[in-house]
Amino acid sequence: MKIDGNTTIVGVIGYPIAHSLSPRMHNAAIQALGINWCYLPFQVAPENLEKAIEGMQGLGIRGLNVTVPHKQAVMRFLDWVSPEASAIGAVNTILNEGERLSGYNTDVEGILAALRFGADLENLPEKVVVVGAGGAARGIVYALTTVTDVRHITILNRTIPKAERLAAEMEKMAKEKTEIEGKGLDGETVRDELGEAGSGVCETTQGAGLVINATPVGMYPKVDCSPIEDPSVFHPRLVLYDTIYSPEETKLMRLARSQGVKSFNGLDMLAYQGARSLEIWTGTKAPVEVMREAVMS
Ligand SMILES: NC(=O)c1ccc[n+]([C@@H]2O[C@H](COP(=O)([O-])OP(=O)(O)OC[C@H]3O[C@@H](n4cnc5c(N)ncnc54)[C@H](OP(=O)(O)O)[C@@H]3O)[C@@H](O)[C@H]2O)c1
Repeated sequence: MKIDGNTTIVGVIGYPIAHSLSPRMHNAAIQALGINWCYLPFQVAPENLEKAIEGMQGLGIRGLNVTVPHKQAVMRFLDWVSPEASAIGAVNTILNEGERLSGYNTDVEGILAALRFGADLENLPEKVVVVGAGGAARGIVYALTTVTDVRHITILNRTIPKAERLAAEMEKMAKEKTEIEGKGLDGETVRDELGEAGSGVCETTQGAGLVINATPVGMYPKVDCSPIEDPSVFHPRLVLYDTIYSPEETKLMRLARSQGVKSFNGLDMLAYQGARSLEIWTGTKAPVEVMREAVMS
């Protein structure tokens, strides 16, 4: 990579940021596109967020990805926020066009593409269980309710009121198309909600056909944890999508696989959301296969 006076800078802000795979993924894409760009990680403490965003404009940084813990807080420093990001309440991509800073949320496209192309789920089941009610879960539930034909979503969360609030908020957006419930993440509720699916993809609202983990439980370094500990709740017609990508096989995936459940990690979601961010900044189609390979190597 050649850095010179014409190099365009893009990057990611987060706290901490050292673990991020985004620089590897984006710089591989930049190389494949043959453009004079460079993607850098910036560790930004919460108290420095406003200065960092001012610096983005001052320094002419073309685009930034935004990760934990800044996704919500950054919104107030932007001139425009996309309807999707606004509905989710989180921005993960900023585009700097000089006078104007625009915020987007590419996790929506990331999860949908990961389920479609990564997990090979052309048609999603009628019932989906989402574990977690934080920022990632908000994007996932929004994507499932607004873009897909999923009819029933159960949000299971450690803090029950948060799951209930998210369910109520998203159900308004779903305009009666999708029934959304918020419940606790206890063993009995998990068993009831996962149930037993019908044949093929889930054909009943009794059992879920897909479960998505949107909590950090099981993520490196606490790899011995899992949001669901009892493997007997899994039935083989279920598909598991774990948004965690480090480690590549989480304990949750291991438990599910032990019951014959097809299980996928979050690397595809990472690659597809990253590809969409790069497209927003460059206006050019991103080499998503190169990005997938970069994060999987
Ligand atoms: N693959 C990708 O591209 C991608 C993109 C975005 C996020 N992610 C993944 O999503 C994860 C969550 O991110 P986020 O932004 O949603 O975080 P967040 O806003 O902090 O939300 C965390 C969620 O996890 C739950 N949780 C945390 N610790 C728990 C524990 N010990 N037991 C049970 N539940 C627990 C929280 O429950 P409470 O409400 O009870 O606190 C909350 O629902 C990340 O760690 C990352 O692995 C992946």
